[in-house]
Amino acid sequence: MASLSWNDNYSVNIKEIDDQHKRLLVLVGNLHAAMLEGQGKQALGKVLDGVVAYAANHFAAEERLMKANGYPEYEEHRTIHQKMTQKVLDIQKQYHSGKVNITLETMKFLEDWVAKHIMGTDKKYGPYLNGKGVY
Ligand SMILES: [Fe+2]
Repeated sequence: MASLSWNDNYSVNIKEIDDQHKRLLVLVGNLHAAMLEGQGKQALGKVLDGVVAYAANHFAAEERLMKANGYPEYEEHRTIHQKMTQKVLDIQKQYHSGKVNITLETMKFLEDWVAKHIMGTDKKYGPYLNGKGVY
């Protein structure tokens, strides 16, 4: 399974957010590569921590942008972010406690987690924010 990479279909037409999504995909891709290389638990854990931390900052940035512009689906979007964060925190916790490994299934979950969210949820605020002059 190849790791997920950016393509222009992911664009929400807001540069700051597209750049963050690109970075998130790179970080998830790095985790995928580290897993395939069979890197040690500590090294893999650090890459996973990086994904979790970056996602948290990215969600916060999106929420600030939506809120500042009065996006009507802000609350709904924030709830989705909270659920996504919970899932990834669970994976992180289980990994660090030695209960689970990072497997292809984990990677598939994380790759879907990013791609489906961008395509299904983030894409919705693009036209609204563009209408507010945010590009
Ligand atoms: Fe989002």
